[in-house]
Amino acid sequence: MKNFIFYATLLALISLHPFSCSTALKEGQTCVKDSNCDQGLHCEACLANGNIRPRCTRIQPVSPALKVKGLPFNRYSWLTTHNAFSRLGEKSATGSVVLAPTNQQDSITSQLNNGVRGLMLDMYDFENDIWLCHSFGGKCYNFTAFQPAINVLKEIQSFLVANPSEIITIIIEDYVTSPKGLTKVFNASGLMKYWFPVSRMPKSGGDWPSVDDMIQKNQRLVVFTSKASKEASEGIAYEWRYVIENQYGNGGMKAGLCPNRAESPPMNTTSRSLVLVNYFPDLANIAQACKDNSAPLLRMLNTCYEAAGKRWPNFIAVDFYKRSDGGGAPEATDVANGHLICGCGNIAYCKPNMTFGVCNIPEAGVAPAPGAVPKTSGFGHSSSEPVPLKWFLGTAVAALLLSL
Ligand SMILES: *[C@@H]1O[C@H](CO)[C@@H](O)[C@H](O)[C@H]1NC(C)=O
Ligand SMILES: *[C@@H]1O[C@H](CO)[C@@H](O)[C@H](O)[C@H]1NC(C)=O
Ligand SMILES: *[C@@H]1O[C@H](CO)[C@@H](O)[C@H](O)[C@H]1NC(C)=O
Ligand SMILES: *[C@@H]1O[C@H](CO)[C@@H](O)[C@H](O)[C@H]1NC(C)=O
Repeated sequence: MKNFIFYATLLALISLHPFSCSTALKEGQTCVKDSNCDQGLHCEACLANGNIRPRCTRIQPVSPALKVKGLPFNRYSWLTTHNAFSRLGEKSATGSVVLAPTNQQDSITSQLNNGVRGLMLDMYDFENDIWLCHSFGGKCYNFTAFQPAINVLKEIQSFLVANPSEIITIIIEDYVTSPKGLTKVFNASGLMKYWFPVSRMPKSGGDWPSVDDMIQKNQRLVVFTSKASKEASEGIAYEWRYVIENQYGNGGMKAGLCPNRAESPPMNTTSRSLVLVNYFPDLANIAQACKDNSAPLLRMLNTCYEAAGKRWPNFIAVDFYKRSDGGGAPEATDVANGHLICGCGNIAYCKPNMTFGVCNIPEAGVAPAPGAVPKTSGFGHSSSEPVPLKWFLGTAVAALLLSL
């Protein structure tokens, strides 16, 4: 027995080599907690996929405009959070318990810091102000109200101040009917100075201004509303004059199909320069999200690419963007960016000034192929199969070591 414990401990210690020399773990490696993992990764399992081994998984896409500069805005893809404000465990600022479903796990600031660049926000008149809320019949209640929109808009403003080369898109599901309600709240948040004007948005399918131009002119906030009238009355772009979008919810998750959402022109309408792909269920499901955001999301990108007249999405909108079985929505964004920016299967294969379609594919084993889950792990050779006993011992010893 003593011998067994000795060998088991030794085995666990050897297999925990990466922890003991405090090297940050890479994508796919077995971990115990988020801080074990390298930058842009966190530690999670995906039970919905039968994957019980906690591994370092992606939460951050490659920043596309940093990698290849100067292209039109519509030549990039942006990771987008559906109901970005609807955070798990959040209490309503009214003091009420929130009884509405939640769609994300972290704050807007944290989402932005992780590379999210599209935010879907539902805005309502409520309490003599504009609130982020879910609805029953277009009306906001204390138990579905999250917080005043100004709070989140100020977080976005701070991020734009601190990151002068970043561009953010806000997509508003707009229930605001108070006169100039949105204009007032955007103005009060200090975001007006970053506003990208409707007059500069291409109206018949042409290229957008380049990201460099947007950055240089400090027009780094793109805002779309779901209310057509506000384009004329408040200068807020009516989304579907510029964007085509597939069906959201369960109707958008049927394999092999990519129908347009009712408000959007058909997917193959080329007079709209931007393409948005939604991929999340009617009812947000944190357990299932890691599966949905993995291989099925990549498959849907391909389906929608065909449906959209061979166009890759500029926005990829998901629930629980951090949840995946490996690369998830951040990797899907990298894939779309590879195709959009350099004509390759992943932005990892793009290089500045490369000819479109000439790809810098690394040698096998250097970087993961798009969609692939690397087989490497902190447990050495036998790592590709789950080894429950070893995993348990490893975790116990690691927890012990880490708590020292
Ligand atoms: C809703 O919340 C507000 C505070 O924001 C409070 O004054 C009001 O009484 C609440 N209404 C109900 C029905 O609980
Ligand atoms: C915009 O905000 C400024 C202060 O930041 C304020 O003086 C002005 O009245 C506001 N305008 C509108 C239309 O709300
Ligand atoms: C666009 O898609 C519709 C179906 O939504 C199809 O009927 C039409 O022929 C397509 N147009 C082009 C130009 O491919
Ligand atoms: C790419 O081209 C631009 C101008 O065409 C040049 O300024 C820049 O240095 C080039 N970058 C690289 C990495 O070659």
